[in-house]
Amino acid sequence: MEFSKFGKRFTRHTGASELMDDMGAAMDGSGSMIGPMLMLGGGNPARIPAVEQIFKDQLAAVIDQPDEFSRMVGNYSRPAGEGRFRRALARLLHNQYGWDLSENNIALTSGSQNAFFILFNLLAGDMERTGTHKQILLPMAPEYIGYCDVGVSENMFHASRPTIEYLDHRLFKYHVDFDAIDVSENIGAVCVSRPTNPTGNVLTDDEINKLLGLAEASDVPLIIDNAYGTPFPHIIFTEVKPLWNENIILCMSLSKIGLPGIRTGIVIAREEIISAVSSMNAVMHLSVSSVGAVLLHKLVASGEIINISHNIITPFYRSRVEHALVCVRSEFEGIEYRIHVPEGALFLWLWFPDLPITSAELYSRLKRRGVLVLSGHHFFPGLKEDWRHKNECLRMTYSQDPATVAAGIRIIAEEVRRAWD
Ligand SMILES: Cc1ncc(COP(=O)(O)O)c(C=O)c1O
Repeated sequence: MEFSKFGKRFTRHTGASELMDDMGAAMDGSGSMIGPMLMLGGGNPARIPAVEQIFKDQLAAVIDQPDEFSRMVGNYSRPAGEGRFRRALARLLHNQYGWDLSENNIALTSGSQNAFFILFNLLAGDMERTGTHKQILLPMAPEYIGYCDVGVSENMFHASRPTIEYLDHRLFKYHVDFDAIDVSENIGAVCVSRPTNPTGNVLTDDEINKLLGLAEASDVPLIIDNAYGTPFPHIIFTEVKPLWNENIILCMSLSKIGLPGIRTGIVIAREEIISAVSSMNAVMHLSVSSVGAVLLHKLVASGEIINISHNIITPFYRSRVEHALVCVRSEFEGIEYRIHVPEGALFLWLWFPDLPITSAELYSRLKRRGVLVLSGHHFFPGLKEDWRHKNECLRMTYSQDPATVAAGIRIIAEEVRRAWD
């Protein structure tokens, strides 16, 4: 059967599909993998019993109230998503940060991955008036793998290499190289994830303000992917000043708080953008799911979601990352390696300078050893230049249970040593 250009575009092999296939195969015991896998590859949030219990209690309360249950599953919502939830969230953000916004500045999507499909294709690609092709500027690669393939047209991204700050204790930190970026007239929007997947980097307030200044000067929006950020799930270990204004499109998600299965993304933007997202939701889905919006309504309306994030989720991940760092430091003794300073998100970004094999080869060897990680080369969307560094890094999650993380790190160390031998 012949697929259309669009069909071919969206069915080709991608890093994201490889990851999701490998994870699926490992979960259901199929595929080419032998025995149980140590799942350090995916972006699944950790199972946190205290948080799961809160969600179960909320669900039980919804089920007990016929009107709430019907609101959750028995009606189509508006295309922008459940209004009561959007109102409650607008109030929460206003009370918390003083932002001047209403429900008309908020749209829900089918997960934030879907929000990026909508936003990138809305703001970049082939433009009707000028006949030009606009791109999304990623000011700093490595960036999130999920952006790579969402463009309906080709060549959607332009990315720049970061500068590298070398820190003590084998740590390093990427910074935006402002000399290298140019928000030229073929840029439709600037986008950063903060905290960054895959590196755990948190762009400084200064970097965000400068990027906003550049975007505003060129009259394009700054998209901030806040999937791990504040006020929820707050998987972030540095102090940041949350920012929103009409030139910022802030994307949030209910996934990393522990609910990836309910596929709820949140876009916070000026009304013109929200109305466009809402129209595209109507075409693609009629309306978006109300499950997450009804499940979490009380926690958002009361502000309790912020307490849960700060008092349970942040300390949980802080202790997990500290454990993972201890394991890396003891297992990697004698190996040439560096770790990106983990300031947020769920991942350690490991850099093996001058590694004699590519990270893609290391990924395959680790998969054969029963450890699923991600090769770093997937995380450079839009960075065309040759840079050895692209093939020297791995992303591993530390959200899984500590024994799995420790066992995985031990095998990574063995395979890196073997590559050097
Ligand atoms: C930085 C970042 N943005 C967006 C997403 C998409 O999340 P979801 O579609 O589950 O909301 C992820 C998922 O891993 C992510 O890491």
